[in-house]
Amino acid sequence: MAKHKPAVAASKKADSRAAPAVTAVEMGARQRDISISEFFTKNRHLLGFDNPRKALLTCVKEAVDNALDACEEAGILPDVTVQLEVVAVGSSALPPASQATRFRITVTDNGPGIVRQQIPKIFAKLLYGSKFHRLRMSRGQQGIGISAAGMYGQLTTGKPVKIISRTGPKTPAHYFEVQIDTKKNEPLIHENKQIKWDQSCGTQVAIEVEGRYQKGRASVDEYLDQTSIANPHVRLIYRTPEGETKEYPRAYHELPPSPKEIKPHPYGIEFGMLLKMLQETKGETLSSFLSSDFCRVPPALADEICKTAKVSPRARPRDIRGAIAETLYHTIQATKIMAPPTNCLSPIGEKAILSGLYRQIKGEFYTAVSRPPSVYRGNPFIIEAGLAFGKAPDSTAKPEKPAQPLAEGEQEEGDSELARVIRYANRVPLLYQQSACASFKAVLATTWRNYGISQSRGALPAGPMVIFVHIASVWVPFTSESKEAIAEYDEIHKDITLALRECGRRLGLFLRRRERAAGEFRRRNIFELYIEEVVEACNRLKGGKLPTERLKAQLQKIASSRTGGSKTDKTLGKTGAGPEGLPHSIIVTAEGVDGAASLLPDGSPSGQPLADVSDEIQVKEKRPTSKPGRKQTTKAMTGKKGLGKAVPVPSLPKKGASSQRHTGAVHTGRKAHPTGKKK
Ligand SMILES: Nc1ncnc2c1ncn2[C@@H]1O[C@H](COP(=O)(O)OP(=O)(O)OP(=O)(O)O)[C@@H](O)[C@H]1O
Ligand SMILES: [Mg+2]
Repeated sequence: MAKHKPAVAASKKADSRAAPAVTAVEMGARQRDISISEFFTKNRHLLGFDNPRKALLTCVKEAVDNALDACEEAGILPDVTVQLEVVAVGSSALPPASQATRFRITVTDNGPGIVRQQIPKIFAKLLYGSKFHRLRMSRGQQGIGISAAGMYGQLTTGKPVKIISRTGPKTPAHYFEVQIDTKKNEPLIHENKQIKWDQSCGTQVAIEVEGRYQKGRASVDEYLDQTSIANPHVRLIYRTPEGETKEYPRAYHELPPSPKEIKPHPYGIEFGMLLKMLQETKGETLSSFLSSDFCRVPPALADEICKTAKVSPRARPRDIRGAIAETLYHTIQATKIMAPPTNCLSPIGEKAILSGLYRQIKGEFYTAVSRPPSVYRGNPFIIEAGLAFGKAPDSTAKPEKPAQPLAEGEQEEGDSELARVIRYANRVPLLYQQSACASFKAVLATTWRNYGISQSRGALPAGPMVIFVHIASVWVPFTSESKEAIAEYDEIHKDITLALRECGRRLGLFLRRRERAAGEFRRRNIFELYIEEVVEACNRLKGGKLPTERLKAQLQKIASSRTGGSKTDKTLGKTGAGPEGLPHSIIVTAEGVDGAASLLPDGSPSGQPLADVSDEIQVKEKRPTSKPGRKQTTKAMTGKKGLGKAVPVPSLPKKGASSQRHTGAVHTGRKAHPTGKKK
């Protein structure tokens, strides 16, 4: 025992020696403010600049999103040009796009332009913007996007952001070169002059960045393809770093209805928020504060809330603190208040989703669903879902291969193809962090087997399918500043699930109907095999005096009517004209497969007129079953796989049958579908 004593004493000594090497005073001396720019320079991955490929996309995305927001807010139909150019590093020769490490991104819009004084702060100060403090649906919301792109450029190439902006034909265009002073998060202006610019108004921003250009998933090309699906009113020109020019023409010639700005809904705010609002309000009395600073609180309801909370409606808002404030908060939460208005949202609309999917994705079945508005934390939102299923009609007929016996557990090639999910938030495609996103999780959680689609546990449904999910909200709850995934609020998850289920239900109907039709068709073929023989036999019995052609026609008629008649042909696209004027097309509505459906839009989501897209759209791929009236031509606009290929758009039918909210329907028909026919 005695032996241990010195050891204990020694360890005590050591402990006292290991005592603070730094005093509180010394530590205090180290404390410093951290500028937001310094923070994000260190944490650039939080803004989507973690690798060169993603960084290139993020820069394009921030600039394009801003351009579209600005045009729409100013009521201008957006014309946006995106140019990616390879830049040589040092004195080395210009490398090919696939090997280049430095690019110049130039995005030009025809928007309202930016007033001269604002330009430096917008492009060279983080957390500066016009959208953060208001509740209105827009692509941007944080006030960080474009300045962060500029900061990334500055960090990786040392080059300033170059901006040209003009607010109208009578005002001069201004040219700026700016960088961020990251210590102060303030702009440094390197150049500021008036220049001649051939555009009468708009903005051009050019950023030089370190990046990598690669096509395919989550690339700039995919982002622009998907942007065009969800924004049919935009005309996009994309000059690739390989020297190609792709054009995405405008399909709608009117802007979506401009979303209105709303005030916070009382249900959405947290207690601390209420306290802050009470201090900052311009309202003289508590009652006027409640009715003017919140939506859906008319003066009578404001008085009622005050009465229930036992506070005078005439009390000064700034005097409401402590226990009274808490009582007021709980009273507000317990009062029945109308849901927030939804004119602050501008959903894409079922018809526009259908049109977009049909334009960009080859398939056999398309459907779309717009949910009624809901609310999370007081913020209104709308969920929209769409679905494109199947391979292009020609590719479904596979060349006959000699039958190869499959080993146990082995699958036919292509059987394991999983569905692809395309996600959007406020019309912006989300290309990263798929598995963290509420949309993706809802797709996984949906039981697709109920709709005839195979699905392994916890996996995406299998099959040639593209699933589209869009959330439109005044404040999209992103999981991080890079705006890549949507947080999983219960209300949001539930609405996405309901929209997906409706799409799945319609797909299930389509698949079952097609299966049934295929069975009937096989049966009819067998009948027809014997008709000839039966007619011959009857003729022989009658001594050759039978009107064989008549009998044959009669028997064929019976065979046809016993096997579903023309409906079978239509379902399988076997009639010359095909169902509703096109082969391989099916119509599914909320009322059932035979219900009314207006097909491709002759009006926008909210009834805006639509251009005859067939005259405008430019595509590389030719649809195999070309019909008169369909134009096909030049440029590719989409991905590589069957489901990602561009297809020409049919000329649009005149408005057919009733278009209710849930008549999101399958594409391709020309004529209106007969209405009101229930199965
Ligand atoms: N092309 C443009 N035309 C007109 N105004 C623009 C343009 N680009 C940016 N702005 C203005 O600059 C502000 C800052 O843009 P920035 O991208 O940094 O933030 P944001 O779009 O508000 O939010 P987010 O960080 O989510 O993108 C915008 O709010 C907008 O008012
Ligand atoms: Mg922005």
